[in-house]
Amino acid sequence: MTFSVVAQVRESIGVIESAIGRVQAPIGLILGSGLGALANEIESSRSLSYHHIPHLPMSTVPGHDGRMVVGRWHGRDIIAMAGRIHRYEGHEPSLVAFPVQLLAAMGVHTLAVTNAAGAVNPAFAPGELMLISDHLNLTSGNPLIGMNDERIGPRFPDMTVAYDAGLRRRAIEIAKGHGLALREGVYAGVLGPSYETPAEIRMLRSMGADAVGMSTVPEVIAARHVGLRVLGLSCLTNMGAGMTGGLLDHEEVKHVAGAATRSMIDLLAALVSDLDDASIRHDAIARFRTATS
Ligand code: HPA
Repeated sequence: MTFSVVAQVRESIGVIESAIGRVQAPIGLILGSGLGALANEIESSRSLSYHHIPHLPMSTVPGHDGRMVVGRWHGRDIIAMAGRIHRYEGHEPSLVAFPVQLLAAMGVHTLAVTNAAGAVNPAFAPGELMLISDHLNLTSGNPLIGMNDERIGPRFPDMTVAYDAGLRRRAIEIAKGHGLALREGVYAGVLGPSYETPAEIRMLRSMGADAVGMSTVPEVIAARHVGLRVLGLSCLTNMGAGMTGGLLDHEEVKHVAGAATRSMIDLLAALVSDLDDASIRHDAIARFRTATS
């Protein structure tokens, strides 16, 4: 399977470029629930529905768009994936990796991934943003299972600093400068689509998780495999199951995510406009670019 990724990426890029012209950008965004609004702020934008992009399925989740938007944002060229592919929709983990591999082939070296998540840390509150410092892969899968294609990345990619330390430092400084409360913690990625039980939330807390969600982890593994620099941001939409008297509800999750959209966009905008190139692994990504061009 994995051996065909290079060919699939090439085919997708061919279709994208014949529809909207040449696409090359150093910054990629994968937008989670409620953050589709960011894509509307991209200037001189060109966009294409996933429907027209070979190998990309449409999102089946309400609140998730399904289009690639390319343009200028806060002085930088970016490619935003508005709408993500989740494992729980029935997709193979390798398919969840595909948009990330596509972005890498189109010139992206820095990937920001956003999501909605439940707070597991009792000190955190709904509506707050959390910078992801590390993750727990509890999705019972891995997007890299199968034959490894060395043109994409190594068989055993290092995950010691999956979320770039320099980008995290900058995010914390920027949040301070903007008077924005930014939490930092470990994101537990689970399969879903059912929310957790209270017992599972207690288990996650004892494992060191600060937040839990149903996305991001497979994308970040794929991003590290191909050598991208990653920033992860969660919008905490609710307390984990059993932590309050109430029940969990997707409508409420969407509502809180929507209300936090502005601060999430402002933080990302400030980060994007002053990105430095210090920790970019140009050497790691170059092989894949050459293979897919
Ligand atoms: N659990 C898992 N995923 C989520 C949650 C949650 O509590 N909230 C938003 N996404």
